[in-house]
Amino acid sequence: MHKDFWQEQLKLHKKLCFLAPMDWYGDSAYRQSMKRVAPHIYCISEFYSADGLIHSKFLAQSVLPHQEIEKPLIIQIFWKDPLNFAKAAKTIEQFWVAWIDVNMWCPAKKVVRSGHGSSLLINEQTAFDIVKALDESTSLPISVKTRLSFDGNQDLIKFSQWLQKAWAKLITIHWRTAKQAYTGEADFTNIYELQRNLDIPVIWNGDVQHYDDGMQKVKNLSWFMIGRKSFWNPWCFLWKEHFETKAWEDKKVWFINWIYHPTLSEMLEAMEFHAAELVATKWERKWSLEIRKHLVQYIKSFPGVKEYRKRLVTTESIEMTRETIWDLRSRFATDLDKRPWCGEIE
Ligand SMILES: Cc1cc2nc3c(=O)[nH]c(=O)nc-3n(C[C@H](O)[C@H](O)[C@H](O)COP(=O)(O)O)c2cc1C
Repeated sequence: MHKDFWQEQLKLHKKLCFLAPMDWYGDSAYRQSMKRVAPHIYCISEFYSADGLIHSKFLAQSVLPHQEIEKPLIIQIFWKDPLNFAKAAKTIEQFWVAWIDVNMWCPAKKVVRSGHGSSLLINEQTAFDIVKALDESTSLPISVKTRLSFDGNQDLIKFSQWLQKAWAKLITIHWRTAKQAYTGEADFTNIYELQRNLDIPVIWNGDVQHYDDGMQKVKNLSWFMIGRKSFWNPWCFLWKEHFETKAWEDKKVWFINWIYHPTLSEMLEAMEFHAAELVATKWERKWSLEIRKHLVQYIKSFPGVKEYRKRLVTTESIEMTRETIWDLRSRFATDLDKRPWCGEIE
């Protein structure tokens, strides 16, 4: 992938939407589950330690391989030592990813104390050196995900211009400071202002509810990112305007408050797909522990799921999972075209 890759993507799509990087979620199966429903989005992986990728072949070979459907994939890494970033880039390059994103976002105490993540907001020289070392070590484009500031006392425009000088090709801003974590009222003024002071695109992140919400707020920016609202809800990335063709005409009416409301059948298909891809990409024991948290959430709004909950959260194998989904499908055979989020199933 060459350095101007996203300029071309922008020409094709005008506005771009990303799945935010999310630890414990953004693995290959999750990303595939999102892209299956919303092929137009760009996915960023959960964060991986640059040091880990260099020293653990097992880690690299577990997390970097991905499927065609996920492309173009962005891999996010964190650490503090520019040399390790440069070395990790060499490993990442071998897996045909589209670009590398640097985590200058994470506010967790342990991460900050180690000089990683959001602490780079107060270590501008290291932040600069990391981006520059990465840019020089790989032909992949480099982006940065960060925050408004660390504690309200840093200059976002100066910091971002500094990263642009180091050849960052784009920058994502979560509108909160590291100190705020997830609190505070959304205010994007600084982000719109930032774009006016940079030549590279700014992606705006934080509290986007659904695609339409993103399109309304994106204004002079070209890109936005959705994180938590995508949990078990790949439909949050759909937009009425996407359903232009005749074949989809009848689906348009199922956008209520700008969100597409899937049928029970679509939900069960999404669960089956997620379960199958998770088992295909992880080993069975890890899979069974992880899938328990996911599947039941897809249909949490559906009262009929109560008696299946226990089976879904204690599943031990893909066969057990398939059997539970199959039982749901046959029990609700006459409700498959109904929409649980609209309360259509008792
Ligand atoms: C469970 C979870 C894990 C996250 N992991 C990461 C991560 O690995 N890297 C990162 O840059 N941001 C991470 N984030 C932050 C999100 O990418 C995003 O910035 C934040 O959730 C705000 O966006 P939202 O309001 O759309 O969720 C994580 C957020 C959540 C909820």
